[in-house]
Amino acid sequence: MVFSERVERLKSSLIREILAAAQRPEMMSFAGGLPAEAMLPALDWAAMPTSMGQYGMSEGEPALRELLAAQARALGVPCEASQVLVVSGSQQTLDLTAKLYIDKGTQVLLEGPTYLAALQIFQLFGADCLSVPVTAEGVDLVAMRARLEQHQPAFAYLIPTFQNPSGARYSEAVRDGVAALLDEFSVTLVEDDPYRDLNYDGVQALPIVSRLRKASWIYTGTVSKTLLPGLRVGYLIASPDLFPHLLRLKQSADLHTNRVGQWQALQWLGSERYTRHLAELREFYRARRDAMQAELLRYFSDLADWHVPQGGLFFWLTLKQPLDTRTLLPAAMARNVAFMPGEPFFAEPERNFGNLRLNFSHVSPERLGEGLSRLAAVIREAQPARAA
Ligand SMILES: Cc1ncc(COP(=O)(O)O)c(C=O)c1O
Repeated sequence: MVFSERVERLKSSLIREILAAAQRPEMMSFAGGLPAEAMLPALDWAAMPTSMGQYGMSEGEPALRELLAAQARALGVPCEASQVLVVSGSQQTLDLTAKLYIDKGTQVLLEGPTYLAALQIFQLFGADCLSVPVTAEGVDLVAMRARLEQHQPAFAYLIPTFQNPSGARYSEAVRDGVAALLDEFSVTLVEDDPYRDLNYDGVQALPIVSRLRKASWIYTGTVSKTLLPGLRVGYLIASPDLFPHLLRLKQSADLHTNRVGQWQALQWLGSERYTRHLAELREFYRARRDAMQAELLRYFSDLADWHVPQGGLFFWLTLKQPLDTRTLLPAAMARNVAFMPGEPFFAEPERNFGNLRLNFSHVSPERLGEGLSRLAAVIREAQPARAA
């Protein structure tokens, strides 16, 4: 069969296999990033006008764009509604960004580790992904400067707030430092911010795009993590030089984001019941995070190091004795435990062994200890015996 050259670069059947296996009812899954089913709000469609079934504008529903712009301004993002594009989940922002910038060999700067599906889409379009290490405080600014001095990436893709997968939250100093570097080297920033509202310890920080003075930028968010991922409603806000190009790409991709989802999102965002829902969500996830931390301390203290995430949905474990965590999967699956190996989150998996991403929103606290003790046993069996 003759497919496009880029289809050759589609990879990662491993992840699809894990997620498919994780659906089995007997499986305890720490693998996915799904919101807890119990916390998906019930929706009322009764008041939706019939006109929402008609074609709509490629930019998105005007009232929703106004609202999103006002919320972004409150975070210091300098924007008008005319810079807001409603997209089919923030995943579409990454697709449109890839189409806007990436030819074969285009350099892109990103975090190591980074969001798996971003890596996939950038590599699908042929990007040469240059990574910069992240710690709990954010990217390593010295390494980032070195990258920028040696290369000319088309853009930097960063997830500064409760990063997926590492849980990192960039400090104020790192946020300012990143903005200064991108201004200095005139590199566009793509800031992905889906977890901002899943914030459990009350820490807040303004987006990096709000700190830029010169560089172009795209800021993207979503209702997937706080309302319903099934709505497929996200948004991007772009600097005025980029917006018209992104709009044309959106038009050619799918004409516009589904209007019924946009209408539903508009019933919630900014409302009192949404504020209440967010408060409940934070409480629910905070309790799950704390339960996970307690069980991790019990079963993983001698096996791994980690930071307690202040937001988002994941713990990122670094094994004290590194090994390719992909090799742990068959034994874990055989014990009905699914997790996400860390290697695929890196542009260079072979040079980054020994991390696991564990989701804490899905498995109920009653089953948590059992799941983690089984996973710890799998790791212990795979590790070479330590010298006495
Ligand atoms: C960092 C990051 N970006 C984007 C997305 C995609 O979200 P959406 O449902 O809005 O497409 C996710 C979802 O897991 C994510 O973790």
